[in-house]
Amino acid sequence: MATQEDKLKKVIGHAKEYGFVFPSSEIYDGLSAAYDYGQLGVELKNNIKEYWWTAMVKMHENIVGLDASIFMHPTTWKASGHVDAFNDPLIDNKDSKKRYRADVLIEEHIQKIEAKIQKDVDKAKERFGDAFDEVQFRATNPNVVRRQEEINGINNRFKTSMEAENLAGVKTLIEDLQIADPETGSRNWTDVRQFNLMFKTELGAVSGDSGIIYLRPETAQGIFVNFLNVQKSGRMKIPFGIAQIGKAFRNEIIARQFIFRMREFEQMEMQFFIKPGTQQEWYEYWKNERIRWHKALGMGEENYKFHDHVKLAHYADAACDIEFNFPMGFKELEGIHSRTDFDLMSHEKFSGKKLQYFDPEENQNFVPYVIETSIGLDRMFLATLSNSFVEETLEDGSERTVLRIPPALAPVKAAVLPLLKKDGLPEKAREIMKALRFDFNCQYDEKDAIGRRYRRQDAIGTPYCITVDHQTLEDGTVTIRERDGMKQDRVDMKDLSKIIGDRVAFKNLFV
Ligand code: GAP
Repeated sequence: MATQEDKLKKVIGHAKEYGFVFPSSEIYDGLSAAYDYGQLGVELKNNIKEYWWTAMVKMHENIVGLDASIFMHPTTWKASGHVDAFNDPLIDNKDSKKRYRADVLIEEHIQKIEAKIQKDVDKAKERFGDAFDEVQFRATNPNVVRRQEEINGINNRFKTSMEAENLAGVKTLIEDLQIADPETGSRNWTDVRQFNLMFKTELGAVSGDSGIIYLRPETAQGIFVNFLNVQKSGRMKIPFGIAQIGKAFRNEIIARQFIFRMREFEQMEMQFFIKPGTQQEWYEYWKNERIRWHKALGMGEENYKFHDHVKLAHYADAACDIEFNFPMGFKELEGIHSRTDFDLMSHEKFSGKKLQYFDPEENQNFVPYVIETSIGLDRMFLATLSNSFVEETLEDGSERTVLRIPPALAPVKAAVLPLLKKDGLPEKAREIMKALRFDFNCQYDEKDAIGRRYRRQDAIGTPYCITVDHQTLEDGTVTIRERDGMKQDRVDMKDLSKIIGDRVAFKNLFV
């Protein structure tokens, strides 16, 4: 059976072969952790953006959009805390010379213990069948309880050390847990050091410290500094949100696992401004909204879980991740953070400008609290691509690779295929192409046998193939083949736009 790692390799190979994702500047042997989206990748990415934008901006009367610049005044990053606190604790292995994030080494150690717990749970489930009570088992089974206590102990030690900025304590924890270099097994570690993740560059002709500016490490700050601009010009009333899609940059210590962790990536973030004291209620609201958005895609409810943060970021009073079951296991896909009034207060302090909302009902000013939802577009892309990648053996023994991409997100919605390259069939097929291409991204293909053309469309996730044959010339009907079940129906070509439109519409995801 293929391992999960094999699956990721296959997805990467498939993504390159079919024009979804290419390594960046490949002719120069590539640049580590940078990727380019190809002709189909850009379509899938745009569709994911549209799904998010529709859900956040179009479906909420009180959420509006923004497109702020990547460069911001450098004091922004002082105020946001990124200059002082946007660090990762790094550690080097003296033998292998490899560099790791200390927190990730510890997290991976915890994941191994969690996997042992899961194994015990699965075994018991099998033994007890329907009578199995997982909650009770987890609370009472001595092995599980002992392991869970071990995890809690590690989490507590890590949290306490980080809060006290005690990096020596983090190193001792790594040593006590006997964590070894994952690649070489060596336990010969350096001290743990903090490393700032922001990329610096210089502005215009000014050199030296005064000209230093940063590539934004999150899009959120563009929203905070525009809070009053949007509120006043849009006459927005609290609660309201500002949504933005854009590039962010982080000098990640280790960037790997394909497009999962890159140094240049795209975020889709929304800051929801609320009355202080209502943050718990809105935090729960956005957790529900966001998980609903994910699950509506039909990529398997079991593939999502919430993970509460142990170590809270410097701005948050509550935070969790929505994790997705990637080929590398469950990993963070989206973050939901209750950011308090940290950012607006801090920008007030550093800029000397008031960033307050006047509440006409209570006749008073206040600095709003904020709930943030923040999802990585590239991670969502990887989630969609890896989840949809399936290798199937069909009833007749033949094999096919199919991308079961949710139809609304599929890069190409329909392929128009004349059965033969003669007898007027290509001309008829072109006529259909012309009629459909305003509504959908379509492909025309007349090369090779029809079976091979179906396979090519399966491999890029096209939900519908329309075949034009001799009967089309007689009665204006075509066959429409559905990607997943491969069932074919004969329909009137005049109905194609409606039939496909109904099935690929974003609307279907919102019912
Ligand atoms: N404004 C809050 C913020 O930026 P975050 O948890 O650091 O929070 C939010 O990032 C999301 O951005 C993550 O859940 C992830 O999907 C994505 N992300 C973060 N770093 C990334 C990276 N190096 N490569 C790709 N995506 C990344």
